[in-house]
Amino acid sequence: MARKTFGDVGTDSRLYQDEARGAGEQAGAQVPAAAPAAAPRPAYRLIGKRTARIDGRKIVTGRAEYVQDIKLKKMLCGKILRSPHAAAEVVSVDLSAAQAQPGVFAVLKLTDGRVRYAGQQVAAVAAVDEKTAEEALALVKVEYNPLPFVVDWEKAREDGAPQVLAERPNVEAINDYKRGDIDAGFAAADVVLERTYRTASEIHHPTETHGSIATWEGEQLIVYDSTQAVHSVRDGLARALKIPAANITVIKKYMGGGFGSKLGVNEHTVAAALLSREAKRPVKILLSRRDNHLCVGNRPMTHQTIKAGAKKDGTLTALSLVNTTCGGVGSGDETSEPLIDIYKCANVKVDEKTVYMNTGASRPTRAPGHTQGAFALEGFMDELAAALGMDPLELRKKNYSTRNRGDTGLPYSSKGLDKCYEQGAKAIGWERRNKVPGGGSDRFRRGIGVATSIWFGAGVPGTLADLVLYPDGSVEAVCGTQDLGCGTRTHMAVVAAETLGLEPQDISVKLGNSDYPYAPSSGGSQTTPSVAPAVRDAGLKAMERLKQIAGRKLEAKPEDIIAENRTFRVRTAPDKSIAYADVFRELRRETVFHGERSALPYDKYAFNTFAAHFAEVEVDTETGRIRVLKYVAAHDSGQIINVQTAESQVVGAITQGLSTALFEERVMDETTGNPVNPNLRDYKVATSLDMPEKTVIFVDVSDPNINNLGTKGLGEPPRIPSSAAVANAVYNAIGVHLREIPMTPPRVLQALETKEGGR
Ligand code: MOS
Repeated sequence: MARKTFGDVGTDSRLYQDEARGAGEQAGAQVPAAAPAAAPRPAYRLIGKRTARIDGRKIVTGRAEYVQDIKLKKMLCGKILRSPHAAAEVVSVDLSAAQAQPGVFAVLKLTDGRVRYAGQQVAAVAAVDEKTAEEALALVKVEYNPLPFVVDWEKAREDGAPQVLAERPNVEAINDYKRGDIDAGFAAADVVLERTYRTASEIHHPTETHGSIATWEGEQLIVYDSTQAVHSVRDGLARALKIPAANITVIKKYMGGGFGSKLGVNEHTVAAALLSREAKRPVKILLSRRDNHLCVGNRPMTHQTIKAGAKKDGTLTALSLVNTTCGGVGSGDETSEPLIDIYKCANVKVDEKTVYMNTGASRPTRAPGHTQGAFALEGFMDELAAALGMDPLELRKKNYSTRNRGDTGLPYSSKGLDKCYEQGAKAIGWERRNKVPGGGSDRFRRGIGVATSIWFGAGVPGTLADLVLYPDGSVEAVCGTQDLGCGTRTHMAVVAAETLGLEPQDISVKLGNSDYPYAPSSGGSQTTPSVAPAVRDAGLKAMERLKQIAGRKLEAKPEDIIAENRTFRVRTAPDKSIAYADVFRELRRETVFHGERSALPYDKYAFNTFAAHFAEVEVDTETGRIRVLKYVAAHDSGQIINVQTAESQVVGAITQGLSTALFEERVMDETTGNPVNPNLRDYKVATSLDMPEKTVIFVDVSDPNINNLGTKGLGEPPRIPSSAAVANAVYNAIGVHLREIPMTPPRVLQALETKEGGR
């Protein structure tokens, strides 16, 4: 498959994975023979410390503007009519009654004559208010010819199943990978084990549902969007509307999460632009919670069989994975990367297929593929440890790879993972776990488990950021990136302030606008490692220039100038000083400093981030309910910029991870082709009441050379290992390994009864 640029990634989960990997592989071409010596880490004043969000007060007092808060003059309400059928021919769409309705300004047909999932858009209206828009929508007459459909992936792959996509079979191979000789690997094993794991389809459900406002000023289109990717939405709109990208500005202000469901342009955003053009007024379209469930993405379900061989001492001799995945009318997720990359094993074979069915297209979902892959692989490692009679942590320590692709190619190592194992085990009290899993006859049984993650994410080369220095001494940091709610504004301020000798609140941060300097989509855990180095680069350039000017004014060498408290001083002559404003004024017209996240200096492995998560659970053997009591997340993501928001990132991911482990599952109704739980009452997500006591640990062994800060991604890594850590803890508690998530009470009870954790 041809690689697209990172910013082009749209709704296809697999493309995104390809892309995110591509960012890492770019560096593979430049692998030197030996790792350069790590540069000494500067002693930072702000970086790596705790900084409160610069916009925290604004957010919690309700003054931050989300799309639904934005009101433009004469703005109309847009609504979309969606197919109730999972498959149908659209015979006719009659818009005339809707068009005749008073208060209706635009009506559009949005179908090519065929629907392939329930919720697919068919028509849209724009009217003076929501009620009028809804009434008009009811007046759109659509004649459907319903067709056979399939919403069960196992039925979708049977012979004679309704064909889901026009030009593709329902089952397609998406990935194969091989190294070594898998048969020889199994022949050399003392123990061979095979297990099958299943993961459910999940919905992103960001707190803020999707929404877009479109307005035209002549040929210029301005879009306010709840998006992870202003540049990519701009380019997607240009393609969809066949207008120059230069005529489009996409603005994202504040945002209540995206988790992958807001990457790339959405169909409803295009609809808002079309309605606005016809109505000659601004149009706002907000998606409902139900729309969010049906139409803007989901995490593909998976069915994974792992077979491995090992020597008695735990040495892995063979590892194989067969994954069947399903992402509705989109592709499923490849889940093999953890299995390919985490452990040393010379003989590996992977075979992955996707199945299509009549549900909305998948979309990247926070750590696509890895979340499901880690559940299988890391659960399997515990089952293998049990078969070998080994401590599961010892088995991991023995096998984890210090090099990529199972030690086979690349020269660099990371020692981050062993520190995560060590410090995490200490924090959870690993020695407290049951030596014999499932011992005891108490109703409530406790256990402790561990799981590992690997992810990429050291940033995208070419990311740009500007620092603008004003004659009055004030500073603006500008970057076309996005703050999804994770604290991007604050980390930009921290890096700029650190570098310029200022305080974070001194920096005015501008982001979320496609007219600003290029930054990649906020996906793939790439925001901080792309943006922070670009801001740092601009700051270093500005500082060099400022020190020259201050040196000239103070009759000192630039290298003797120190900057603090809005003042430049001379190191050797403490009484000599000059205020920032007096130096900034001397810049004259040279007030913008351009920063760039430079090309990656070395190999892919330097990109990887690692984590070990530990969970302690209590299982109620009467009700089957699992309670997570204690949770430890130990991460190597390189240099942390702001410990406060980094911890929030991890806590948020653990919340979602435990939600996946215990609750989340989209359930489809085979008679109607619609989901039965498209709301937050029936689709369960974890809340604060479900959360355990949490400890977050950051270990940092990164080289500051990998970008100019040594910082790596943290968006997805903490989302990966939770389900496996919980399943392994449950195994330690009850002696049965659950191989299907969510681990609902009926599944736990069945496992207790049958002593079998899978189907
Ligand atoms: Mo993404 S799945 O928004 O990194």
